[in-house]
Amino acid sequence: MWRPRPEVTIILETSERTDPVAALSAVTERRSTGRLTEPGPTRSELQEMLRVACTAPDHGRLQPWRFVVLEGSSRSELGAAFARAEAERDPEASDEVVVKAARKPLRAPVIVVVLGRSVSHPKVPDWEQLVAAGCAAQNLCVAATAHGYGSMWRTGWYGEHPAVRSHLGLDEQEQVVGFVYLGTVAEGYRPPPREVDLGCVTWRT
Ligand SMILES: Cc1cc2nc3c(=O)[nH]c(=O)nc-3n(C[C@H](O)[C@H](O)[C@H](O)COP(=O)(O)O)c2cc1C
Repeated sequence: MWRPRPEVTIILETSERTDPVAALSAVTERRSTGRLTEPGPTRSELQEMLRVACTAPDHGRLQPWRFVVLEGSSRSELGAAFARAEAERDPEASDEVVVKAARKPLRAPVIVVVLGRSVSHPKVPDWEQLVAAGCAAQNLCVAATAHGYGSMWRTGWYGEHPAVRSHLGLDEQEQVVGFVYLGTVAEGYRPPPREVDLGCVTWRT
């Protein structure tokens, strides 16, 4: 069974030379995992992962992010908001579609909603702040891998719909950067092969 290696630790601060392959294995082993089951990360593991998320690079130290952690029945409550959004967007939506929307947040034991919250700043434009929030989301996924859990970063239009936004208590400046689903990788799950293409690199000497 494919499973991220729990023994991998994230190097937060060190002046020692380390084996780069080992140090980066949580990064390279992170995969989007659609099949997540119980158990989810514990509260103390989540706190550690969120601490890692908050070490994202952050121009101006603005902390342009916020997290809403959904455990237990709060996932069904988010599902109810998804269902309302679905029904409001398309009043003709079938019961099947609405019920499917309601079940979406139950696909993992924990969801961390990662929010970007840009402020007006003379030197740090909105886009930089949003990218920083994206880095925090990525850090969270990498930290989950290091702790032996799977992650799945999901987005979509739900995060823009008023029914979902008001349910989550978002203010106008806040943007859903991701619904990061976290849990144990389901038995037998295999991620699709991933190829890295360095054609995106231009070398200049
Ligand atoms: C900003 C962002 C949004 C994403 N939204 C979704 C999504 O809504 N649904 C989904 O299945 N995957 C989503 N993903 C995950 C990508 O599909 C995934 O990273 C990609 O398929 C590569 O797979 P890997 O993460 O295993 O390398 C998102 C990734 C990012 C960075």
